[in-house]
Amino acid sequence: MLLYERVAATLRAQITRGTLRAGERLPSVRQLAQGHGVSTATAVQTYLQLEREGLAVARPRSGFFVRAATPAAPAARLPRRRAPGEVDNPALRSVMELLARSDLLPLHSATPAPDLLPRAALTGSLSRCLRRTSAAALDYAPPQGHFALRRLLAQRYAQVGAEVSAEEIVLTGGAMEAINLSLRAVTSPGDVVIVETPTYHGILQAVAAMRLKVLEVPTRPGQGIDVARLEQLLQQTAVRAAVLVPNFNNPLGSLTCDADKRALVESCDRHGTVIIEDDIYGDLAWSGQRPSPLRRWDDGSTVISCGSFSKVLAPGLRLGWVAGGQWSEVLARAKFFTTVGGNSLTQLAIADYLQRHDLERHLRRLRRTLADNGQRLHDAIARYWPAETRVSEPQGGLSLWVELPGGADSRVLFEQALNRGIGTSPGVLFSSHGDYVDCLRLSCGLVWDERMDHAMRELGKMAAASSNCPSL
Ligand SMILES: Cc1ncc(COP(=O)(O)O)c(C=O)c1O
Repeated sequence: MLLYERVAATLRAQITRGTLRAGERLPSVRQLAQGHGVSTATAVQTYLQLEREGLAVARPRSGFFVRAATPAAPAARLPRRRAPGEVDNPALRSVMELLARSDLLPLHSATPAPDLLPRAALTGSLSRCLRRTSAAALDYAPPQGHFALRRLLAQRYAQVGAEVSAEEIVLTGGAMEAINLSLRAVTSPGDVVIVETPTYHGILQAVAAMRLKVLEVPTRPGQGIDVARLEQLLQQTAVRAAVLVPNFNNPLGSLTCDADKRALVESCDRHGTVIIEDDIYGDLAWSGQRPSPLRRWDDGSTVISCGSFSKVLAPGLRLGWVAGGQWSEVLARAKFFTTVGGNSLTQLAIADYLQRHDLERHLRRLRRTLADNGQRLHDAIARYWPAETRVSEPQGGLSLWVELPGGADSRVLFEQALNRGIGTSPGVLFSSHGDYVDCLRLSCGLVWDERMDHAMRELGKMAAASSNCPSL
């Protein structure tokens, strides 16, 4: 046995026995070398070996940590209601009050913490625009938005293989306005639309407000949208539009692969169903390349592509967009008669930021932190929550989806957590008819600290009490 294998065997045994527990820091490379009388190179090799075995994880500037055995992922579920019907979920009414609270540890909010945003650079861009271009910054923006930013967005689409022209882009107040305008452009009350299950509650509220009927297509942990089921639904029912989040959807964080994306665009095209794609998380892959938006496989005749800077620059800037393809004129008109135009200062400042700063560099750091947080939440769940708890394995995005054992009700846990100053998002918020009572969503966007560890321990105790399983 080689030297590093011998040291690795000792640590492995300590991890297996529970002497070293999930999430705990392992000795530094120097300590390990000294403790075992080996060179630092051997100590490094030891940790690389444990990393390969999935027993250790390196954290930038913090060292190596024990990695929890990966809990099983929740299984995909079929929606309870199979016929098209209006959204009927009273729980959705509570979201606004929940998001208005500033006194909670915001594990309920799928947003990057302020410390993870490029605040100084954005402040610089905002004040530069006010100083140098105040006439334009204080005037109405053109209805479609300032061309400089639309052109930069078209360039970003080109980088991921999608042909989108600056002329067809309309700047909006976030992705939510983009989705609302799109629904308004292509649907009428009573039309049937497809949404994923589980899906983001904002999409459900937009669909409900327009009195549309929904059909739900399962989106599967780790695999994304069930394209075969989608095709089946399209064959059975006339569906006007599908609002989909193929890249790192909220709440599962799953990614639909390229082959399935292409198939679903073809399917919708064949059935005359418009896809309203919400690509708000596309830039937040936890590893590997940024995945393509659906527009890569469409020329603007089937797919309307919506995006936003909320999850990568700052949600408070309220800047999103819609690349409307054949509907771009209708969308521009709708933007004009609803709000005249968008926020001029923000549009100019983001264009300035994109020209002066390296967005990719910021994204690399943000993606690393989110992936690290995802791992830490996994570790904390393995350590503090009931053993049968299931957890999604997100490939990107900002959230983790947790399934409680024993059919526990996450609304009870939600209320108890609120009393302790901790926010969670109960699973019932993510379906049109209140499914997923035993699930909850946690945010990966916070900065990890003692408070987070404590909150995860507290939540673990509550989860154990509500599911009658011992916490670990
Ligand atoms: C899938 C999805 N779409 C849209 C939004 C809202 O985006 P915006 O702030 O750009 O309106 C969110 C926010 O959580 C989201 O998760």
